[in-house]
Amino acid sequence: MNIYITGASSGIGEFVAYEYSKMGATIALCARRKEKLEIIEKKCVSLGAKVYTYSIDVTDLSSVKESIDDFLSKVNSIDLVFANAGLGSLDFIEKGNPSSMNQVIETNVIGVQNTVVPFVPKMIEQYSGQIAIVGSVASYVAWPGSGAYAASKFAVRALSESLRRSLPKQIQVTLICPGFVKSEMTEEVQFKPFLIDTEKAAKKIVAAITKKKRVFIFPWQWNLVILFKKIIYLTLGNAFQKKHDRFRNKQS
Ligand SMILES: NC(=O)c1ccc[n+]([C@@H]2O[C@H](COP(=O)([O-])OP(=O)(O)OC[C@H]3O[C@@H](n4cnc5c(N)ncnc54)[C@H](OP(=O)(O)O)[C@@H]3O)[C@@H](O)[C@H]2O)c1
Repeated sequence: MNIYITGASSGIGEFVAYEYSKMGATIALCARRKEKLEIIEKKCVSLGAKVYTYSIDVTDLSSVKESIDDFLSKVNSIDLVFANAGLGSLDFIEKGNPSSMNQVIETNVIGVQNTVVPFVPKMIEQYSGQIAIVGSVASYVAWPGSGAYAASKFAVRALSESLRRSLPKQIQVTLICPGFVKSEMTEEVQFKPFLIDTEKAAKKIVAAITKKKRVFIFPWQWNLVILFKKIIYLTLGNAFQKKHDRFRNKQS
């Protein structure tokens, strides 16, 4: 099994790499921090993986492409692309400077496209493969203070849906939507309802990928939150529609 993982230097990416290592996979570990990757590489190898590490920034298409070409030249085929690298900074809109918001979009959206799209010709040629994109429950619910993060995750949800419709059905696309998972990203977050341990999250993610789920939202409580939100939107949407129609009828 040949797997390309971004965001492999910590958190979800690191623990997903350990799960696939136990299965004896050949893995490309990608992230910017070389030293962290080297430590994780050793653990993956000790668990049974064959590993190639690439110190790359996902926003830099040419270096991502170089790493993909190098990995493909070594493994010849690709089974799974796990587009996971992400940034979770807050907006700070009151400062009037969108730079950190732009960086979130750059990493979480452009970075995902840079990771996934270069693999498409190879997957079409081999007529197989799977793309797993890490979204978030923020793909459905936008919280105050993290508009760029929510926008980036709404975007990758749309991207994964479109990819699924664009690619031959032999190539599966899975959108992973975690709630709060223990990682560097959530260290500073104060309110983390339904928080889940990194290793447990990684096991759930790998199981969902293996089952070739289209969308995997976890832990389960978030499915209820998202369902309620949909119901509330639908109910309110219908009420607004009726009001709007009545108003229009009065005007005509
Ligand atoms: N933790 C949660 O509660 C949670 C919930 C929902 C979704 N997610 C999503 O899960 C994914 C993984 O996050 P995590 O929780 O595991 O956080 P994390 O521990 O902070 O990991 C983020 C990973 O992304 C890499 N990364 C960030 N910017 C990058 C860039 N420009 N180029 C290459 N690699 C980059 C980081 O490595 P380097 O710094 O070494 O480059 C790191 O390996 C993200 O997409 C995040 O949005 C997390």
